[in-house]
Amino acid sequence: MHRPRRNRRTPAIRSMVRETLLTPADFILPLFFHDDAEDVEIGAMPGVTRWSLDGLVREAGAAHALGIPAIILFPKIKDGLKTPMAHEASNDEGLVPRAIRLIRAVHPTLCIITDVALDPYNSDGHDGIVQRDANGNITILNDETVWILCEQALCHARAGADIVAPSDMMDGRVAAIRSALDEEDFTQVSILSYTAKYASAFYGPFRGALDSAPKEGDKKTYQMDPANGREAIREALLDEAEGADMLMVKPAGLYLDIIAQVRASSSLPLAAYQVSGEYLMLKSAAASGWLDEKAIVLESLTAIKRAGADMILTYFAKQACGWLKEL
Ligand code: PBG
Repeated sequence: MHRPRRNRRTPAIRSMVRETLLTPADFILPLFFHDDAEDVEIGAMPGVTRWSLDGLVREAGAAHALGIPAIILFPKIKDGLKTPMAHEASNDEGLVPRAIRLIRAVHPTLCIITDVALDPYNSDGHDGIVQRDANGNITILNDETVWILCEQALCHARAGADIVAPSDMMDGRVAAIRSALDEEDFTQVSILSYTAKYASAFYGPFRGALDSAPKEGDKKTYQMDPANGREAIREALLDEAEGADMLMVKPAGLYLDIIAQVRASSSLPLAAYQVSGEYLMLKSAAASGWLDEKAIVLESLTAIKRAGADMILTYFAKQACGWLKEL
């Protein structure tokens, strides 16, 4: 008789046959920050802070000390600096380049990733430039936006970013950013493309944290329809052909099928982003007392890795490192 249970009989045997192992090296920690002296708790994301620049540098170091190889930076830009053309996105003295330089000076071996998109910088709260017609209908302009994204990516590269991660979902941006970087001799700066980024309702807490929600309309003309799977493959093949170094699926936990399909159709390293709403769901469930936080978080991260992700962007990164040590 076949008895698969023999392989589950003792902890020692289970550890030998385990197919998926989480390690701190799998994690990328997203960090929020602002141009203010205070470190502020983010209401919708218990345990997550919007840091001052000092706090940000300290937190980046704390993550690195736990074995986390990379952080990704999300700035909250002051309202007065937001314009329709998002000029602040490529200001060399802006918040992101200053943060990169400060972190780089103190933690030279930490991998610094930046988000390339206009939503924190443009007064419309969209990832691209907004055009209004006579009736007030809005269009998110593609090619005009791509040009500004190139400027933004160059600004991050000049400040010392290792990887730029376009999250805007404009068409053709990976190729454009790659040639802009190469022309300025930033041939070593990588592109982590948000390949399959869905128009998800699970970004709510993030937009609250950065005050970056669209003022008008939604993001459905550029982010993907949650109903579509094949389209993710199309995006992945295009990003690979355009020169992306790494791909990303976002959100993660509800999109494990997409992670598996993209994994199967591209040989590039694949990241998955466990987004703010997923974090909030798990935190709230744990706070209810009905579910065990450590167990559900490690199970959810393991599932994302098992589906095919090589790297996981997660707000749980530091906590998870602590729990992994206890195992
Ligand atoms: C912005 C961006 C968003 C997230 C990452 N980059 C929000 C959005 O597209 O509206 C969401 C991350 C999260 O919810 O944790 N381009």
